[in-house]
Amino acid sequence: MGFQITKAVIPAAGLGTRFLPATKAMPKEMLPVVDRPAIQYVVEEAVSAGLHDVLMITGRNKNALENHFDRNAELEATLLKKGDSERLRKVNESTDLADVHYVRQGDPKGLGHAVLRAQMHVGREPFAVLLGDDIIDARDPLLTKMMSEQIKRNATIVALLEVDPSQTHLYGVATVEETEDEDVVRITDLVEKPAPGTSPSNYAIIGRYVLRPEIFDVLEKTEPGKGGEIQLTDALQKMAGAPEWTGGVYGVVFRGRRYDTGDRLDYLKAIVQLASDHSDLGDDFRPWLKEFSSALDS
Ligand code: G1P
Repeated sequence: MGFQITKAVIPAAGLGTRFLPATKAMPKEMLPVVDRPAIQYVVEEAVSAGLHDVLMITGRNKNALENHFDRNAELEATLLKKGDSERLRKVNESTDLADVHYVRQGDPKGLGHAVLRAQMHVGREPFAVLLGDDIIDARDPLLTKMMSEQIKRNATIVALLEVDPSQTHLYGVATVEETEDEDVVRITDLVEKPAPGTSPSNYAIIGRYVLRPEIFDVLEKTEPGKGGEIQLTDALQKMAGAPEWTGGVYGVVFRGRRYDTGDRLDYLKAIVQLASDHSDLGDDFRPWLKEFSSALDS
């Protein structure tokens, strides 16, 4: 049996180049998805899995992120004076959500390098990593399943999604073996963004990991890989190859709803999907969307 998991690490130092110029002066994690910045969904997911200690690995332009999870006394006072308790509740939602800490990445040397920056804060415990480009539907829990597998197997766990073969070059891809559990596979090998046509499978890593602290020891020795960056996938591949001291790497296969916000087209799709289901807006948005899309056909 492993340790209790209490900490979530969220890398948020990317330059957001795919969204320029929107991200010129603002981190891409602050782009709104319906009515909340994308990063808030991710923190909410961590908290609902019981992870209240959140470490963000930030870069330049971090001020908006810090401000979003901090109090805004002036705004609170104004809303209070107006008696606008509904908006006050919304403002305070992100402030009260979690205990958020920050560390700067310094040089943007890749995802593996960003995760390594969490070492001091995390210590020698297993911890979760959540990437902000993926939003997992709150109705389809993934992280809790990954955490319980981590504790049960005392291993490292990644989230896998079966993607269309034309998409594998965008992800870390796993070679897998079945286990006794239908939704859990043992990972024997990993490759970061294989060239089209060379992918070992269509099991893609989506942005959720529950890592054993040995990942830090491996990352310290991991040389730059794909794109000249220190890749988390490369470190995980070494962990998978050394189960005697790492416990091995397993994948939880996700079959629920996931919204990719990583590029402009996926971001638009995510907004439409989440708006259609939104508790306040959905009932008005869906009929409009139907009308709009049938007008496109005519
Ligand atoms: C990163 C990882 C990749 C993973 C992906 C999931 O890539 O390097 O292994 O499959 O996240 O979203 P990025 O999308 O940051 O290029």
